[in-house]
Amino acid sequence: MCSRRWELSLALELLLLPHLFLATSIQDYSKYAISSSNISLSISSLPRNYKTLTWFYTTDQKIVEWESGQLKYFNTKFKDRVRLDLQSGTLHIHNVQKEDSSTYLLMVLKDPGYEDEWKISLVVLDPVPKPVIEVKKTQEVNKCHLTLSCVIQDQPVNYTWYAESLPKESRSSVLEVTHTPQNYSSSYTCQVSNPVSSQNNTVNFTSPCVLAPSSGVAWTATWLVIMVTTVLGLLWI
Ligand SMILES: *[C@@H]1O[C@H](CO)[C@@H](O)[C@H](O)[C@H]1NC(C)=O
Ligand SMILES: *[C@@H]1O[C@H](CO)[C@@H](O)[C@H](O)[C@H]1NC(C)=O
Ligand SMILES: *[C@@H]1O[C@H](CO)[C@@H](O)[C@H](O)[C@H]1NC(C)=O
Ligand SMILES: *[C@@H]1O[C@H](CO)[C@@H](O)[C@H](O)[C@H]1NC(C)=O
Ligand SMILES: *[C@@H]1O[C@H](CO)[C@@H](O)[C@H](O)[C@H]1NC(C)=O
Repeated sequence: MCSRRWELSLALELLLLPHLFLATSIQDYSKYAISSSNISLSISSLPRNYKTLTWFYTTDQKIVEWESGQLKYFNTKFKDRVRLDLQSGTLHIHNVQKEDSSTYLLMVLKDPGYEDEWKISLVVLDPVPKPVIEVKKTQEVNKCHLTLSCVIQDQPVNYTWYAESLPKESRSSVLEVTHTPQNYSSSYTCQVSNPVSSQNNTVNFTSPCVLAPSSGVAWTATWLVIMVTTVLGLLWI
């Protein structure tokens, strides 16, 4: 009952009278995580002898609360994936998903009317897939104009191209180059990255306008070996 009233008054104060409430915002930071990993949301130092400690997923959804010696995990999508460390205030989350991205809020009530709060914005991202490099070429006498496109399925990434010689640093998905017999790069690597992962792929040239056979061939050969081994394995049984 008492706690209800407290929550209500807390909500009202937060909504209507933030300037009358002595809330100290200690630390706001961002954190990136890779989907399906385990993460910890932690703060640098938890006040001693706090009265109430609450982790919120959004400003109105509580994940877990400790109050008067009682620890309560709320019935949220986090219920079986979170653990609160009462010593440090750290919230451990297992198997984070993209939908868990949010600004998490930790509120610690020290005395009625005095509280500290921390905001941690969590961004959960999928690892980037391996890019494919598509090559378009236009051959002229002693020249080959090339358009190299680094392709992945739609997802925000940064692109970086590597080659023996590049006209300038290229951070776009498409690279335009001109090869001459005297001057060309035999290899181009496109790297795609987001804050949690990176992948790359390479195309090779054997001459200014001729691509080396791609690694797809090697993959087919590997696959055949696996198939043959499996078939032999089945015959053996
Ligand atoms: C995440 O935590 C769970 C439960 O503690 C554990 O089984 C799993 O191996 C952990 N996964 C990673 C990627 O560390
Ligand atoms: C070779 O090509 C690169 C990139 O287009 C250019 O920067 C460089 O000056 C060229 N070198 C020669 C020797 O032509
Ligand atoms: C791309 O790079 C910029 C500058 O380094 C960075 O701020 C941004 O977060 C990166 N974007 C992705 C999707 O990695
Ligand atoms: C490309 O990926 C390989 C293996 O994943 C890595 O060893 C290499 O450093 C990467 N190269 C670049 C230029 O990112
Ligand atoms: C390109 O050449 C490099 C170095 O010779 C080699 O390691 C790589 O496997 C080649 N990649 C392809 C796709 O042919």
